[in-house]
Amino acid sequence: MNHPDINAQVAAQVPAWVRHRKLVEWVQQVAALTQPERIVWCDGSQEEYDRLCQQMVDAGTMRKLNPAKRPNSYLACSAPSDVARVEDRTFICTERKEDAGPTNNWIAPAEMRTTLDGLFEGSMRGRTMYVVPFSMGPLGSPIAHIGVELSDSPYVAVNMRIMTRMGRAVYDVLGEDGEFVPCVHTVGAPLAAGQKDVAWPCNDTKYIVHFPATREIWSYGSGYGGNALLGKKCFALRIASTMGRDEGWLAEHMLILGVRSPEGRKYHVAAAFPSACGKTNFAMLIPPRTMDGWEITTIGDDIAWIKPGADGRLYAINPEAGYFGVAPGTSEKTNYNAMATLKENVIFTNVALTDDGDVWWEGMTDTPPAHVIDWQGQDWTPEIAKATGRKAAHPNARFTAPASQCPSIDAEWENPKGVAIDAFVFGGRRSTTVPLVTEARDWTEGVYMAATMGSETTAAAAGQQGVVRRDPFAMLPFCGYNMAGYFDHWLKLGAKLAQAGATLPRIYCVNWFRKGADGKFVWPGFGDNMRVLEWMVRRIEGAAGGNTNAFGVSPRYDDIDWRGLDFTPAQFEQVISVDADAWRAELTLHSDLFKTLAHGLPEALQQTRKALEARLDG
Ligand code: GTP
Ligand code: SPV
Ligand code: MN
Repeated sequence: MNHPDINAQVAAQVPAWVRHRKLVEWVQQVAALTQPERIVWCDGSQEEYDRLCQQMVDAGTMRKLNPAKRPNSYLACSAPSDVARVEDRTFICTERKEDAGPTNNWIAPAEMRTTLDGLFEGSMRGRTMYVVPFSMGPLGSPIAHIGVELSDSPYVAVNMRIMTRMGRAVYDVLGEDGEFVPCVHTVGAPLAAGQKDVAWPCNDTKYIVHFPATREIWSYGSGYGGNALLGKKCFALRIASTMGRDEGWLAEHMLILGVRSPEGRKYHVAAAFPSACGKTNFAMLIPPRTMDGWEITTIGDDIAWIKPGADGRLYAINPEAGYFGVAPGTSEKTNYNAMATLKENVIFTNVALTDDGDVWWEGMTDTPPAHVIDWQGQDWTPEIAKATGRKAAHPNARFTAPASQCPSIDAEWENPKGVAIDAFVFGGRRSTTVPLVTEARDWTEGVYMAATMGSETTAAAAGQQGVVRRDPFAMLPFCGYNMAGYFDHWLKLGAKLAQAGATLPRIYCVNWFRKGADGKFVWPGFGDNMRVLEWMVRRIEGAAGGNTNAFGVSPRYDDIDWRGLDFTPAQFEQVISVDADAWRAELTLHSDLFKTLAHGLPEALQQTRKALEARLDG
C-alpha cells in the first residue's frame, strides 16, 4: 500500500461491524507506520481459519496432517532461533525505573518509542496485516477484558482463534468506544515485491515491549508463543497484573482445577508453577484407580484472573479459551486428558512428523517410531538420536488446542463469575532441598513461600537450562511492575479480606521434582500428585494431620493414602525431609532476593525470614 493513500484505503475497507472510530484510527496509524501490502479484518469464523491455514499450507510454512489420523490439524516448524520466550528482550517501559523494578528490563518510554518507530517503519511491507479482535475471558463477562492484536503473521491469527474468544462478536462488546488493549506484532521480516517466505519469518533482533501506563504492547521480531500471541503472557499477565494492582485483583501464572471428594464436596485450587513445571498436567490430573470417588476437573491450565467477590472470597476465571501446552513428555500415561484434547483441530509447533503424516515427540510413546522428520526437517531415527543426542521434537514444542475439547473440562469453566478458590499452591522444579508439600501456617508465611520460591530453568525460555533461580510466584518473567510492590499487593489483599471476616485460601508449597542419587525423580508425580492434593483437601476440612517443621506443616508417612502405590517410608523421607544445612543455604538465597528487591519490600517478609531462621536454628 502507498503511504499517503493509506488512511483512505483503510477507511474504505473497514467492515460494517466495526463501529469504533478510535480503533480504526489506530489501525490507520499502525498501517501507515508498518506499510502492509493489505489488511484483513478477522471475523473469527471457521471459514476464515480454514482459509488462513490453507494459505500457509500453500506457501509451505505449515503442513496439514493426515486427516485420517489427526483431523483438521496442522504442523508448523519455526526457525531454530525462534523457539521460546526471550526474557532478556522483554521490556517494561514505565516512566520511573523503580516502577518496573529490578527484575524487569527497563527502558524509558520515550526512548523505547523512538526505537520501536524505527523498527516498525515498513516492517510489514509485502505482508498482510491481520486485525485480530479478542476477549480474554468469556465475552461480555465483568471479569473479561478486550484486546486487539495487529499482526503480520497468519500463524498468530489462527493460534489466537484457538487461544482466545476471537472474532466479530468482540466488536459488539466494544461498541463505538469500548476499551481495548492495543497490541502490535510484527515478525520483522518485510518482503520485497514478488518475494515469498521460504521458511518461518522472524528477525534476529527481538523486542517484547509493554507500556503499562497506556496499556500498550509492541512485539517485534519473533513469531513464537508468548512473544507473539500477545493475549497470553503480555496482556493476561504483564499488563493485567498492573491493572490488578490498580484495581484490587490478581493476574496470575496459575492453573485452576476443581477437586470433588468422594463425599461430593467440591473445592477449587489455583496453582502457580513456573513455565514447563507441570501446570497443564496438574490441571488435567486423573486420580489413581485406587482413589475411588475423587474427581478432578479443569478450569484453566496457565493463567488465572482472580477477583474478590462480595462475600469476601476470591473468584478465579481462566481468561484463555485454549491450551498452548508443552508437547514433550505428554502421553496417554502421563496426561490422558491432554492426549484426548489433541485428537483433532490442533496446531502443533516444532514436533516431529511421522511417516504416516501424524505427529510424535519424546515421551509420547514408550517405543519411538523407526523414522520421523524432526522439527528442523531432518531425518531422525532412534539410532541417530542415540549417536547424536538430537531430539525429534524441540524441548519447548507445543500444541495449540481448544479448551472445550478437554474431557475433564469443568462445567463452570466459562462461568463469568469464576470459581471460589479454596487453596493456592506454589511449586518449583527442585532436584534437592524443597519438600514434596508444606502447608503455610498463615497468609503471610504463604506469601513468603511463594515470594522466595526457586526453580530450575526450562526450555520454555531462551537461555541456560537447569539453573536454579528465584521465581517468585512463578511470575518472575511475567510481573508487569515492581516485584516488591507485587508482594505488597498480595499481603494487602489478604489483610483486607481477613479484616472483612473472610476465610482466606490455604497456601501450599509443593515440589514434584526431588531426585535420588541415581539422578531420577523419586516422586512418581502426575496422577499420583492426587495423593498430595487429597492431603490438602483433608487439611482444609480439618481431617488430616501433619508434622510441623521450620517452614510449616508437612504430612507424615501415615497422613498420605498409599493404596495402589509402592512407595516406602524411606522413599517418602527422600522427598519430604528438611535438611537444615541446605535450608540455611536456601535462606541465604532468600536474603539475596530481598536485597535485590529492597526498594518497597514489605517489612513482614523480612520478619518472616527472621522467624524461619530462628526456628531452623532453634
Ligand atoms: P507452561 O505451559 O510452559 O507454562 O508449562 P506447564 O507448567 O503447564 O508444564 P506442563 O504441565 O506442560 O509440564 C512440563 C513438563 O513437565 C512436561 O514434560 C511434563 O511431562 C513434566 N511434568 C509435569 N508434571 C510432572 C510431574 O508431576 N512429575 C514429573 N516428573 N514431571 C512432570
Ligand atoms: C510459558 O512459557 O509459561 C508458556 C508458553 O505458557 S508461552 O506462551 O510461550 O509463554
Ligand atoms: Mn505458562
